[in-house]
Amino acid sequence: MNKIYLDNGSTSFPKAPGVGKAMANFIENVGVNIGRGGYEEAYSAAEVVLDTREKLCKLFHFDQPENVVFTSGITASLNILLKGHLQPGDRVLTTSMEHNAVMRPLRQLEQKGVEVVLIPCKRDGTLDFEAFIDLATPGTRALVMTHASNMCGTVMPVKDVAEYCQTLGIWTIVDCAQSAGILPIDMEDWGVDAIAFAGHKGLLGPQGIGGFLITDDLAAEVDPLLSGGTGSISHLETVPDFMPDRFEPGTQNLPGIFGLHAALSYLEKVGIEKIYQHEMALAERLLKGLSQLEGIRVVGRPQLTGRTAVVSVDFLQMDNADAAFLLEDKYGIMTRCGLHCAPQAHKSVGTYPQGTVRFAPGRETTEAEIDTALAAIQEILAENC
Ligand SMILES: Cc1ncc(COP(=O)(O)O)c(C=O)c1O
Repeated sequence: MNKIYLDNGSTSFPKAPGVGKAMANFIENVGVNIGRGGYEEAYSAAEVVLDTREKLCKLFHFDQPENVVFTSGITASLNILLKGHLQPGDRVLTTSMEHNAVMRPLRQLEQKGVEVVLIPCKRDGTLDFEAFIDLATPGTRALVMTHASNMCGTVMPVKDVAEYCQTLGIWTIVDCAQSAGILPIDMEDWGVDAIAFAGHKGLLGPQGIGGFLITDDLAAEVDPLLSGGTGSISHLETVPDFMPDRFEPGTQNLPGIFGLHAALSYLEKVGIEKIYQHEMALAERLLKGLSQLEGIRVVGRPQLTGRTAVVSVDFLQMDNADAAFLLEDKYGIMTRCGLHCAPQAHKSVGTYPQGTVRFAPGRETTEAEIDTALAAIQEILAENC
């Protein structure tokens, strides 16, 4: 049975051409550390790392490559950003569409006396902007929100939110897990203070590499969660106060960075707009086909605007887990079912606790695969409902 991968919301597959080769080349032919060795190989590896920071700046419209911090991904980045600067007594805003990468650090902080306020979202997953305006009070310290929902693809109005936050002096941090490499991200135009990205989703790179881009002003407010050797100012036992060393102690994930570098080179060549158009054409086909079926509810925005290609479906008369199992077992279609690490998001759109089955086409998904998925859903509904 041919397998059909529709779980690109979890991680993209296949990765960009050249990613595996770049990683293998690093392991087999380069292998050195950077910032520690005073030899040619270390310097040229450091150049690839710097070039990766520059490529990320270009993609996300930011002009300080030294303020691109590599971590293992969004989860690590958000933990650093949130736990590093929120103190007991602070008030932080977030939305009711967040992934647990946002919610769990915030709930931990809540136990230490940080006030966590959720901005409600509507049944289609869009932000209740009026509620946001009411809740964004002077004295609120930070706002952290996703750019696009991992559960149903709804895109959040980050620019408008950030502009309003700026007028009140609220730090803004955006989780770009589901948008980096997919939607245009413009840190300067948005006026946000930090964005977190994962290398392994829309950027088409490997797992275990990601990071954040941060303004000098916010960086100065964040106390580094981790500290250790950086290969710089080794005579001092204090944490370096310059970027990116301030937030990059320990040995870097260089195979990951080399892989990400290859992925970003590919994205520059192809252009993210082209991949986005392809994925949205598939989403349109999927949404159109789903709209003709009875016994399911498509969660999130039914129209193509204000969403990504992530499509979530609630099987109304059968268990979503059973539907996902049958899709894989009988038709080889790989999806993800359940709560997608976003319980609040399901509460917002009315699919808690049953969750949904999530279909996330990627750059190599074909129309024929979407048609196969639609026919499979139709057959499952006919046989089980
Ligand atoms: C919206 C969102 N935020 C955060 C994460 C976590 O990202 P990472 O795997 O890089 O830690 C994910 C991954 O599923 C996500 O979809």
